[in-house]
Amino acid sequence: MLLLVALGIVFSPFVVTIEKTENNNHKPPAPLFNYSRISLPSEHIPYFLSNNKRVAKQCRLDPLCPFKDALKDLSVCWGYEKSCDPRKRFSYPVCTKADSAWARSLDAAQELFWKQADFGYVKERLSELKTLCKASKPGNSSLRCSSHSRFCKATNLYLDLRKPRRSHERYKEDFIQTGEIGGHCRLNKRALAAEGEHKSPLQSWYAELQTYKELDFDPIEDGHCDIIIDKPTVFMKLDAGVNMYHHFCDFVNLYISQHINNSFSSDINIIMWDTVCFKDAFFSLLPRMRYGLFYNTPLISDCSSEGMFRAFSQHVLHRLNILQVGPKEGRVRVTLLARSTEYRRILNQVELINALKTVSLLEVSVVDYKYKDVPFLEQLKITHNSDIFIGMHGAGLTHLLFLPDWAVIFELYNCQDESCYRDLARLRGIRYVTWQKMDKVLPQDKGHHPTLGDHPKFTNYSFDVLEFMRLVLEAANYVTRHPKWQRRVLHDEL
Ligand SMILES: *[C@@H]1O[C@H](CO)[C@@H](O)[C@H](O)[C@H]1NC(C)=O
Ligand SMILES: *[C@@H]1O[C@H](CO)[C@@H](O)[C@H](O)[C@H]1NC(C)=O
Ligand SMILES: *[C@@H]1O[C@H](CO)[C@@H](O)[C@H](O)[C@H]1NC(C)=O
Ligand SMILES: *[C@@H]1O[C@H](CO)[C@@H](O)[C@H](O)[C@H]1NC(C)=O
Repeated sequence: MLLLVALGIVFSPFVVTIEKTENNNHKPPAPLFNYSRISLPSEHIPYFLSNNKRVAKQCRLDPLCPFKDALKDLSVCWGYEKSCDPRKRFSYPVCTKADSAWARSLDAAQELFWKQADFGYVKERLSELKTLCKASKPGNSSLRCSSHSRFCKATNLYLDLRKPRRSHERYKEDFIQTGEIGGHCRLNKRALAAEGEHKSPLQSWYAELQTYKELDFDPIEDGHCDIIIDKPTVFMKLDAGVNMYHHFCDFVNLYISQHINNSFSSDINIIMWDTVCFKDAFFSLLPRMRYGLFYNTPLISDCSSEGMFRAFSQHVLHRLNILQVGPKEGRVRVTLLARSTEYRRILNQVELINALKTVSLLEVSVVDYKYKDVPFLEQLKITHNSDIFIGMHGAGLTHLLFLPDWAVIFELYNCQDESCYRDLARLRGIRYVTWQKMDKVLPQDKGHHPTLGDHPKFTNYSFDVLEFMRLVLEAANYVTRHPKWQRRVLHDEL
């Protein structure tokens, strides 16, 4: 028996329980809910209440509810809800041009980006949801999936893991065989078979669900399971866990899946038992789906949004209790991410830092985010309190997800991988800058004729100081003119 609980802190489950107020005169009145279990960023609370009308109603009745302000306008919506007024949406992507290969007008471009990479993406997945195994009575099993079985939801799911076909392979396509997965419900075999086109470990759940069978027994009622998991469960298949970029592709897709399920509860269990029933489970969106998020995502150009990825960032920062302590008037916090690998080093880093330090506006820090030296929460704290974040191309730039909204990410040199972090910045809706003048960046002299090993990603570089300073000062100018930065600074003064 093995039970791994991952991500318990960030995505810890919350269950809103109605607690009876005691009619006891000696005790102060207790709130009707344990509101702290909701644990969402305050900006998200009105959206949450608008999607959880029962909680909103309780809150209205409860003098101790801390969300009274949020009750004032419950017409807000993320954008994917059926009754959502488009004028009340959380976010609206902005395009500066309509890329003619994708869209005919600016409006069409913005709409497309919203569907590709903002809450419109959730709306599309929701509209695809189809019942594959139908419960005829409440309490029967059920299975519903979005197209190509990329997200699925199951109730009273039966799983027989007595004969696992394990091997050194990370994902096996025949791991679960006929009779080992199923439910007591009416299965539409043809509809299930039609969702198999993306069968592949990290693109869909088809390999796991293709053998889903209509059972002639009720797995839970008839006692066919050794273990019954009551707690809602999320199935994930993790991407290559090699670095932060890859991990966050998993987490972003988990967050989007929580929106699809309208629940921010998720205990992620990876379970190996004999036979197991799951009362409630969903199969999360996967990191390498075709047209999935967030890498290898074909995205319309010239558009960006402060939408779904900003919500993700707020959610993670809130659950991990990472606070914004700035900004301060007359100070722009610049963080330079150093590298300690064998390649993509900034050869004249000291010279660049010294140049930054001559400008009194800039508060300069140099960090090397090695996990053992700087714990991850500390890394997030530093990142979230940076107004300009500078680094060479590399997974560490995934930190841009956690910069404040007014920040600039400066990918010092993109090593000819131009879209990776530029696109991530467009998803997050923050300003992206990178080196343009190729005559002002010098690869380290290898003292030999160029070979294949001289790929831009395996080289160290030095940078022209004046050009570097020009780019940083331009970024600082952007930051201090940003309305959110100004509002914060002004607020601090009051
Ligand atoms: C409310 O929920 C929080 C977070 O889950 C928990 O720490 C706390 O003990 C709960 N309080 C009560 C009164 O149940
Ligand atoms: C649904 O549940 C009822 C009550 O448990 C049971 O009698 C019935 O056979 C179930 N039907 C299916 C198709 O699972
Ligand atoms: C999915 O949403 C339902 C409510 O619609 C909730 O009861 C369940 O806990 C959620 N499942 C997960 C795995 O979060
Ligand atoms: C890059 O610089 C580091 C540190 O000086 C050095 O160890 C490494 O060999 C250099 N890499 C290349 C490809 O020149």
